[in-house]
Amino acid sequence: MPSLFATVEVGTAAERWPTLGLGTWHLGESERTNDHEVALLRRALEIGYRLFDTAEMYGEGGAEQVLGRALAHALREPGVRRDELRVVTKAYPHHGTPAGLRRACDASRRRLQLDTIDLYLLHWRGDVALAESVRGFEQLQQRGWIRHWGVSNFDVDDLGELLAIPGGQACATDQVYYSVSERGVEFELLPGLRRRNVPLMAYCPIDGGRIVRHRPLAELAATLGLSAAQLALAWLLHQPGVIVIPKAGSEPHLLENWRSRDARLPAAVLAELDSLFPPPTRRRPLATS
Ligand SMILES: NC(=O)c1ccc[n+]([C@@H]2O[C@H](COP(=O)([O-])OP(=O)(O)OC[C@H]3O[C@@H](n4cnc5c(N)ncnc54)[C@H](OP(=O)(O)O)[C@@H]3O)[C@@H](O)[C@H]2O)c1
Repeated sequence: MPSLFATVEVGTAAERWPTLGLGTWHLGESERTNDHEVALLRRALEIGYRLFDTAEMYGEGGAEQVLGRALAHALREPGVRRDELRVVTKAYPHHGTPAGLRRACDASRRRLQLDTIDLYLLHWRGDVALAESVRGFEQLQQRGWIRHWGVSNFDVDDLGELLAIPGGQACATDQVYYSVSERGVEFELLPGLRRRNVPLMAYCPIDGGRIVRHRPLAELAATLGLSAAQLALAWLLHQPGVIVIPKAGSEPHLLENWRSRDARLPAAVLAELDSLFPPPTRRRPLATS
């Protein structure tokens, strides 16, 4: 069974990070629903979620704001310690210069009500030279505003370029689309990250919810007493060096996804999943949401 905490190399030190977290895309998009979303995130904290993924892009800061409110509530009460939380947020690529990252990071810190962001990502590669972004991330670390930095939506070539830059080896994760039905990263990207002990952060792990309509997957899941979403998440949690961040907009989904950690996947089920969703036999471009 995958444990709640996996020891993954994040940055230079081995640190324990949860392998299951919570995504926040589409949160904070409307004043009308913000209070409800704060309550939902507080419920997630009660259930046990400690890793949260957000971005300045989500709701143009709105998702960071609702997450910040939920975290602030939780940290005022006993039960949740700051040092066990892992908060990940992302900067727009056009904020990738040292000055742009400083401004964007400060705004994210304010919205999140946090002095320090645990992991700060470049959301995707833009026009700013990677060496500039690395310099910007290093400066944020020196200020104590971020603990680790990483990238998102970087394929093998972009990552290779980054790693060749002085300081680029400190990249702590690559957050990319990875699900049982989108296994392209297994050909080259994921093995390369594993060799470096860098975790891959899997977004869209249930294909934005579409995977639950996959009838053969649902039938296979039912043989284990699981839902299709749970089997898809349990399969990802079974992959070494992978952190999984499904989004859930209701308490039943929060609980259902959380329980995927308890699933045991027999070899026959893993083999059946390989035949339903064959692993890649050649390099493919990264999937995007
Ligand atoms: N770096 C990037 O470029 C990037 C891109 C995309 C996503 N992300 C991050 O990754 C997170 C996850 O990706 P995602 O939100 O796109 O897709 P996802 O997690 O694969 O799917 C989320 C969708 O699945 C539904 N869902 C959740 N649990 C379910 C369950 N047990 N049964 C049935 N449906 C369920 C949700 O509906 P309800 O809301 O109704 O629960 C929502 O519509 C995002 O929230 C974001 O934090 C990053």
